[in-house]
Parts: sequence; C-alpha cells; structure tokens
Amino acid sequence: MKSLRVKTQSEYEVTITDSLAAFTEKVSLLIKGDLVAVITDSNVDGIYKNEIENSLTGKKVIKFVVPAGEESKNVENYLKILNGLADNGFTREDTVITFGGGVVGDLGAFVASTYMRGIKLIAVPTTLLSMVDSSVGGKTAINLEKGKNLCGTFYQPSAVYINTGFLKTLPKKEVLCGLGEILKYRFISKDAKIDISKIDEDLIYKCLKIKADIVSKDEKESGKRKLLNFGHTFGHAIEKLSHFTIPHGICVAKGIVYALKISEKYFGTSEKVRKDYILTAENLGIDVSCEYDLNELISLISIDKKRSGKGADFVLIDDKFRPEIVNILLSEIKGYIL
Ligand SMILES: NC(=O)c1ccc[n+]([C@@H]2O[C@H](COP(=O)([O-])OP(=O)(O)OC[C@H]3O[C@@H](n4cnc5c(N)ncnc54)[C@H](O)[C@@H]3O)[C@@H](O)[C@H]2O)c1
Ligand SMILES: [Zn+2]
Repeated sequence: MKSLRVKTQSEYEVTITDSLAAFTEKVSLLIKGDLVAVITDSNVDGIYKNEIENSLTGKKVIKFVVPAGEESKNVENYLKILNGLADNGFTREDTVITFGGGVVGDLGAFVASTYMRGIKLIAVPTTLLSMVDSSVGGKTAINLEKGKNLCGTFYQPSAVYINTGFLKTLPKKEVLCGLGEILKYRFISKDAKIDISKIDEDLIYKCLKIKADIVSKDEKESGKRKLLNFGHTFGHAIEKLSHFTIPHGICVAKGIVYALKISEKYFGTSEKVRKDYILTAENLGIDVSCEYDLNELISLISIDKKRSGKGADFVLIDDKFRPEIVNILLSEIKGYIL
C-alpha cells in the first residue's frame, strides 16, 4: 500500500492499494453522517454491484447509476442527482462517493461541490486514466451543448482511494487511454523515471506524486499547473474534430507529437525525442498519427480555453528536456509545424 498527501488548501490523502479492506477501514473513519450517495455508471455497477455498499456497514446508501459514457456528464444528470440528494434528505454531514472513471468522477464531484455549497466527497476511481489523473487535483465538470467541461468548479475531495484490483476488468482500449496521460507525465517530470512496462501501484504513485506536487503549488491553474496540459492544446482540438469519437487519452498522445514538433523549431529540441516517443507509443499499441487538416485544428485551438490574447498556451520541451509554458501567436503555430 502506498499513500500520498495532496497539499491543497484543504489537504487530503490518496491511498493506492490492491485491497478493499483498506478502503473500508479508511473510509469508515471519514464518513460522519448516516447517508452516503454512491455515484457510478452502468458498466461499473454491472461488474461491482455492491462492492462499495457492502463496505459501508451501518450507513444508508443511495445509489445513482448513470449510463456509461461521456454523454452522461450532462446538466440533466447533474440536476437529477442533486434533486435525488435533496429528496433523500442529504445534509452537509453526509457524503458523496464517486465510483467509476473520469466521467462519473467529474460529474459526481461537481454535484458534491455545489450541493448545499459543498458536501464531503470521496473519490474511488476505477479506470487507469482516473487513477493517474482525474481523481486528484479538484477539477470538476459537466459538458454543455456548446462544449466539453464548460461548466465546473475547483473542489478537492476529502480522500481518494485507488484500488488497482479494479483494473483487472478494464478493457484494453481504456488502459491505452490512461497510458496517454502517463506518457505526458514522463515528459513533464523526467526525474520521476516513470517505467511504463508494468501498470502497478508504483506507476500510479509516481504519476500522482507529480500531479499532487504541481497542484499543491497552483491549485487554480494560474501558472505551473498548466504543465499538466502537455499534449492537450492539440489534443483537445483533435478530440473536438473527431466529435469525441477518439478518447481523451489517445488525443493527448497524438497531441504530444505536435507539442514535440513545435519544440523542435521553438527550442531546437532534437527530432530524436519525437521519433523515440512515437516508437514508444506505437509499441504500447497507441496510434499517434493524425489525419486531420492542420488549419482546422488551429482554428479549433483559437476557440479553446487554452487560448489567451492572440495566442495559445503550449507546453513545450526545451533542448535540455525541461518543460516550458509558451504562448504562441495563433498565426504562427503553423510555421512551427510545417
Ligand atoms: N477532472 C480532471 O482533472 C480530468 C482529467 C482528465 C480527464 N477528465 C475527464 O475524464 C473523462 C474520461 O475518463 P475515463 O477515461 O475514465 O472515462 P470513463 O469514465 O468514461 O470510463 C471509460 C469506460 O470504462 C468503463 N469502466 C470504468 N471502470 C471500469 C472497470 N474497472 N472495469 C471495466 N470497465 C470500467 C466505464 O464504464 C466507461 O465505459 C472525460 O470526461 C475527461 O474530460 C477529467
Ligand atoms: Zn487530460
């Protein structure tokens, strides 16, 4: 078992283990009220029906199951769960547990952050992506018709409990999505020596340690936290252009190729860095090619959250392999790539 502390304004512990007993022990200490809402999705509920409930003896558990998939991060589900909490008499003494991947995590955390101006939240991520990334850091979100993650808050959980045992049932394509974000960590912290040959507690710990350190210094993303967006400027544009048919983690992996390409002209970073990266990703089974038109991608970047002024923020890798946040004029992006 490993654990780490995230030193945001309200500090919390992340536990990484492979035993459910550890969860029962830790969580029962944290939960004070009588009511617990478990927010999960149809796939996770199908596989792990009463896994969480069984470990919460003496509590009244109300379960909210949303259909699996990104579409569930919507206003309707958000309101449905809020009203469900109110109907069941939840107060600020009670607890919300998110049990699932990033979708359930983002939606459930947004519910927890806004119900009665904030109710206790415990995150139990079940996908690799949510274990190494989305469950820590306090970004909550739902999607609006105009776009993804347009509505949300910063709200830290009281605890994050990661059980690597849940990964046994995760489909291979979802594992690859998590690996996309893991590849990102390898670039923004070369000292961490992340070994991707084995997905285990150690790998998850190393990724989260990087994230926790960054988030502790810049909770609301005014500076250093932007490093976590490595690969995301083009990644988000690819995601949008694919109409979200290419999953987030894979888009990030593709976006990293663009970030490295730009780094070559901007910083003189060796082309070998990109070539090695492509080889690593392909060996993992991640397709990092991108057929989309560059002009279309850039026009999507121009309406993204990462745009600032006449430019867009990019995380690049300099010739000494250090990550740097750089603002590049929209009109100049193309010149760095072609
Ligand atoms: N808040 C953040 O900081 C942050 C960071 C990155 C991504 N995100 C968000 O996370 C979401 C993507 O998360 P995701 O990749 O976990 O997707 P997801 O939550 O949709 O899960 C992927 C699929 O795996 C299934 N699943 C989950 N756990 C399983 C298990 N143990 N066994 C079998 N199947 C399982 C789910 O039902 C779903 O079909 C996106 O909405 C993205 O915007 C948020
Ligand atoms: Zn991401």
